Amino acid sequence: MQIINDRKTFILQAKSLLEDEKNLYANLSNLSALFKEYLPNTNWVGFYLLDNEDNNLVLGPFQGKIACVRIPFNKGVCGHCYTTKEPIYVPDVHKFKGHIACDSNTNSELVIPIIQNNEVKALLDIDSIKYDRFSKEEVNTLIELTNEISKLLIFK
Ligand code: SME
Repeated sequence: MQIINDRKTFILQAKSLLEDEKNLYANLSNLSALFKEYLPNTNWVGFYLLDNEDNNLVLGPFQGKIACVRIPFNKGVCGHCYTTKEPIYVPDVHKFKGHIACDSNTNSELVIPIIQNNEVKALLDIDSIKYDRFSKEEVNTLIELTNEISKLLIFK
C-alpha cells in the first residue's frame, strides 16, 4: 500500500508543508491534497472542524465532490468519531446506521480525530469508492501519521 511503503516521504512532505506556515486553512488544504495523492481509490479526503458557537462540525478544506457543510455532533460517522474521540473505520457505509451520504459513490470511510490538549479540534475524513478499502495495517498507519501531523497544526 502506497501510504505504508512511502510513509517516510509522506511525513517529510507533510512536515515541510506545515513547518513554515501557520495558517490553518492553507495547511489543511495542502494536507487534504497530500493524503489524496497517497491514497488511491479515495473519492473524498478532507477535514471537518469544530464550530463551538453553533455546536456542530463544519466543513473544512477537502478534495472531492461538494459535501455536507454542517454535521451535528451526534450524527453520522463523523459525529460518532467526535463523540467517542476515537478513530472509526467503516468498511461498508451502507451498514452504518445514520451514515451521512455526501457522495453516493462512497462505500467505505475512515474518520480520525485530531486531538490537542485532550480536545477534538478537527476530524480527518477519508472516503473510498471501494468496499473495505483499508487494511488494518493501513488504518493504523493513517492514525499514526495523523497524530504526528496533528502536533504541527495551530488551532485558535
Ligand atoms: N459520511 C460522513 C459525512 C461526511 S462526508 O463523507 C464528506 C458521515 O457519515 O459523517
